[in-house]
Amino acid sequence: MIKQAIIPLAGLGTRLLPLTSVFAKELLPINGKAGVEYILDECIDAGIKEVIFIISSKKKIIKKYFYNDLFFKKIIKKKKDKRIIGEYKKILKYKKMIKFVYQNKPLGTGDAVYKTKNMIKDNFFLMLLPDDLIIKKNCSKSMISIHNKRKCSVMASMKVDKKTVKRWGIYSKETNLDKKNFYIKDVVEKPSIKSAPSNNAVIGRYILPRKIFDILKYQKKGKGGEIHITDAIRKLINLNYKFIGHSFDGKYLDCGTMHGYIKSSLEISKV
Ligand code: G1P
Repeated sequence: MIKQAIIPLAGLGTRLLPLTSVFAKELLPINGKAGVEYILDECIDAGIKEVIFIISSKKKIIKKYFYNDLFFKKIIKKKKDKRIIGEYKKILKYKKMIKFVYQNKPLGTGDAVYKTKNMIKDNFFLMLLPDDLIIKKNCSKSMISIHNKRKCSVMASMKVDKKTVKRWGIYSKETNLDKKNFYIKDVVEKPSIKSAPSNNAVIGRYILPRKIFDILKYQKKGKGGEIHITDAIRKLINLNYKFIGHSFDGKYLDCGTMHGYIKSSLEISKV
């Protein structure tokens, strides 16, 4: 059973500057609700019991969002407002399941994952990238049910415009399991259009094996001078660890850019 999830939240958010010079992008409201709460709700609905937030000292505001009890208690005492009481209860529910770990240097997603090494208890865990919202169908839940059946790693996949492959991790397929799932032969981080093996892109939902920590310990920097989780996954595939690509049913929303962020609010307001 997958009971733990990790969420890398230490990213600098340069694509959303200047807002992110003072604020954490994951707390920006999407249709009136902090972006990270959508990710937490997806976890809860998928049966996750503990969520590890990887933050940085620059993004302590994220911890404060969940640890502002005194503020809520004072206001509730004064105002007894039903809405505020409801919101505080929700924050308390989240707080109970969140643990924090720090990644103070932005060395990449692989490095962020490595920071959780001593906190992961089971053989597999879930990772969600908070820039990637998937609405209408719980992608993590579907991936967990595939994992329960096949007992291996699973990653979300989506076909993208061929011209944009250098923005994503790109899969090459081994064999199709069924219409929605395939075994992954290889995965490359942000390839050029010329070298891309397909236009099946990695979207930010991963069920990873604990073994990945052994690889990450020695993982060198890759594209853009960052330590990529994709490069470590590639090594595991070469060591014959099975990874399944899952073409999810939900709708993908990219909240990491201003255009995508604005579009996300509009799309969610329609649901
Ligand atoms: C990360 C991953 C990439 C994946 C993408 C999905 O890239 O490294 O493989 O395709 O998320 O959003 P980033 O968005 O951090 O550049």
